[in-house]
Amino acid sequence: MADRGVKLLWLLHGANLDMLGRRDPALYGHETLTELERRVTRYAERGGFEVRAFQTNFEGEFIEQLHEIAVTGAAAVIVNPGAWTHYSYAIRDALELVGCPVAEVHLSAVGEREEWRRTSVIADLAAVRIAGKGADGYFDAVDRLAELAAARDDEEDR
Ligand code: DQA
Repeated sequence: MADRGVKLLWLLHGANLDMLGRRDPALYGHETLTELERRVTRYAERGGFEVRAFQTNFEGEFIEQLHEIAVTGAAAVIVNPGAWTHYSYAIRDALELVGCPVAEVHLSAVGEREEWRRTSVIADLAAVRIAGKGADGYFDAVDRLAELAAARDDEEDR
């Protein structure tokens, strides 16, 4: 198998996720976003990824970050768009451009909460979907994305 060099993984968080640690810990845990990003980064690096993390509360900035990934390329993306998940077709359209496997992760069990949280407008774009496992969901997403990235490499080698 060819050594493909750097496998870039983007870890993207949307609205209000910068407030982790202050938001309801029963739903979102006690960890801050910085701590979460640090742990996920360390784990993903051990799995051979180089990680870049990004968070914004501005939908347009989130879209522009997705555009940048679409242009510059990445091996995989983990995305937790927060409430935008449930209604932002603009983010959906931008996510469609990234051209690599996407994992949609939610800390809380969105399928078991309010009715409006049960809709994800990005669901069918995500190769991996994990909700309700807290921070562990991100580690599972890294594992699954590593498998998908490896399978893609094998496919290209054929
Ligand atoms: C969330 C779930 C969303 O419904 C909510 O708006 C968030 C966080 C989660 O990680 O559980 O901001 O994406």
